[in-house]
This record gives sequence, C-alpha cells and structure tokens, in this order.
Amino acid sequence: MTEAILLVGGRGTRLRPLTVHTPKPMVPAAGVPFLTHQLARARAAGVEHIVLATSYLAEVFEPYFGDGSSLGLHIEYVTEEEPLGTGGAIRNVASRLHSGADDPVLIFNGDILTGLDIRALVATHETTGADVSLHLTRVEDPRAFGLVPTDATGRVTAFLEKPQTPEEIVTDQINAGAYVFRRAVIDTIPEGRPVSVERETFPDLLATGAHLQGMVDSTYWLDLGTPQAFVRGSADLVLGRVPSPAVPGRCGDRLILPTATVAPDAKLTGGTVVGEGAFVGEGARISGSTILKGAVVEPGAVVTDSLVGARARIGERSILTGAVIGDGATIGPDNELRAGVRVWCDARIPGGAIRFSSDQ
Ligand code: GDD
Ligand code: MG
Repeated sequence: MTEAILLVGGRGTRLRPLTVHTPKPMVPAAGVPFLTHQLARARAAGVEHIVLATSYLAEVFEPYFGDGSSLGLHIEYVTEEEPLGTGGAIRNVASRLHSGADDPVLIFNGDILTGLDIRALVATHETTGADVSLHLTRVEDPRAFGLVPTDATGRVTAFLEKPQTPEEIVTDQINAGAYVFRRAVIDTIPEGRPVSVERETFPDLLATGAHLQGMVDSTYWLDLGTPQAFVRGSADLVLGRVPSPAVPGRCGDRLILPTATVAPDAKLTGGTVVGEGAFVGEGARISGSTILKGAVVEPGAVVTDSLVGARARIGERSILTGAVIGDGATIGPDNELRAGVRVWCDARIPGGAIRFSSDQ
C-alpha cells in the first residue's frame, strides 16, 4: 500500500488576504478546505497513510481532519519549528513512513488541483525503475514553475526552478508538483536544515547520475497559488471539470451549502459556491465565484470571478469582477471593484466610494 506526504507548510503569500487567517490548503474550494479534495483523491487511488508536513498556521489542520478516519485515511501531522523548505519538510517526516527502502512514496504539493491518474504515476515509477518519478505538465508560460526537460524515453535531463534568463527556458514541460520517491532516496536528503527539493535535491540527484523519470500528462492541472487561480479551481470543481469525491453535493452550475439562504430570483452560475450561513439577496447575479461562510451579498450586487471572504458584506448594486474580499470586510453599496483588487480583512469601504467607470 502506497503512503503519501503532503507539503502544506507554505505561507501562501500570493493568496493574501485569503491566507491571513487560514493556511492555503484550508481555504475552502467548492465548499470544503481545498486539502480535502487532495486527500480524497489520494484515498481513491489507494493511499491509506498520509503524513502532513505543516509549518505556517500548523495548528488548524489536526482539529479539522483529526486522525483522517472520516476520509478512510490514517493521517499524521509533523510541524516544523522553522520552515524547512520543500526538501527539508520531506526529510523531516521520513521517520513516520512505514515503507521499505525500495517502496514508492508519493509526495504532493498542497496547492495543486489536478485530474492526475496517481496510479499511473506509480506504475510509471515501477516499470522504469526510477529513483524519483515526476508528474509533468505543459504550460504556455513556464517561468513561474520548475522546468523539467526530458529525453525521448522521458528521463529527466535537467531541473531549472523559476528560470531567470531566456536561455534557461528550454522546454514548456514543468514540474506539476506530484512525485514518487523511492523511500531510500528520501533518507539521503540532509536533515535538520532547510532544503529545497527543486533547487537542491533534484539537481544533486541528476548530478550524481540518479534516474529521474518524467510522466507528461495533459489532464486538468492548476496551481492555486493566486486568488484568480483559486477562484477558477473552485468553480471548476463545482462544474465537474475536475473530478473530486469530496465535493459536498452534485456538480453543476452552482453549489449552495445547506444552511445558506439564496433569494429565489438571484442568479448563480458558472460554478459559483455559496458557503454555510451565507446570504444572497434579491436580483443578485453571481458567476464563477466563491462566497465563503456567513458572507452577505445584498440585493442587486453583481459578482463575477471573485471571492468574498467569510462574514464579508457586499452592498447593494456593487459590482465585483476578479476581486478578492478578505474575511469580515464590508463593501458599501454602489461600488465597482475590478481587475485583481484585494480588499483586506475587516476593511470598510463606504458606499459609492470606488468606481472604474465615469458614470454615477
Ligand atoms: N512543510 C513545508 N515547509 N511545506 C512547504 C514549505 C516549507 O518550508 N515551503 C513550501 N511548502 C509547500 C507549500 O505549502 C506548497 O504546497 C508546496 O510546498 C510548494 O510550494 P509553493 O510555494 O507553492 O511553490 P511554487 O508554487 O512556487 O513552486 C512549486 O510548485 C510548482 C507547481 O505548482 C515547485 O515545486 C515548482 O517546481 C512547481 O513547478
Ligand atoms: Mg504553488
């Protein structure tokens, strides 16, 4: 039985203000903390034992997921006192693994939404006899990722994390954030200091002749590192574009959690989710957006591709497009917020204060 490590200790700075009170993997996507989807997908692929490598806001994971039995898993938690980086985090949990030296261990970045066939990645690892196997995906602009060129057999030839110069952009194949490590390879990562698996471990392994195997796969893949990507990922889960056993309801145009109140003539489309205890008023139109628990969208507001934080309030007739509203913030009536604006937690914007257009 394969076991897995989930890396969930990052600070999630690019997702602020969503990550001010909540670590990135615990921000709700399609009605449940995002991590639930990853755990459920791993379970569906046959994983039973998962170690969560935590650091930033570590204390919130265990009260929510407990021993994992509600998901059919055995979950353990290991917290770094100082962040150890991706490789250091992997090394730091090695003592919790039950696998033998040659057994495969799955490792996942905690912010990836993907339809990856996890069993196929393990099968690739076993048939090629690799030391490490990596899920790779192709993207238009690879600069924000780890570039992973491969030869004709899929064997990795280099690892270039976040390339700085045009010469380094040698491929559109990137590290998709899911690996299989031969257990013994984990034990070779230096202990007790920060290590980046991308900048140190992978290049070192290549330099010493280890076999790193890439599996390029073009299934759904999204790094939820930015608010826009997070909102998109949640909507795609609701729409069923990426399958997850953890979506709490039927997939479709909208997901309304049981204790939410939505006016009969409000229009919810495009994978919108309305969280527990949230309220959507008459004539409001919400598309492709996430309304977190206890938030209020007043009558006539128009919310598109946006996230409204827990207990936040959107005033009547306000228009939000590509906006992120932090927990507890209040947007007065008749505002117009667009284009990636981030309103911080508990901020108060008076009525009619912000417009993008010149009309009143
Ligand atoms: N426990 C722990 N400790 N976890 C950490 C730490 C740490 O010090 N630092 C980061 N993580 C976790 C994050 O929570 C996240 O789940 C994962 O490790 C990757 O970190 P990110 O900060 O999200 O990295 P990235 O998105 O810039 O780049 C990574 O992901 C890309 C794919 O989305 C790299 O792995 C790239 O090579 C890759 O292409
Ligand atoms: Mg990331």
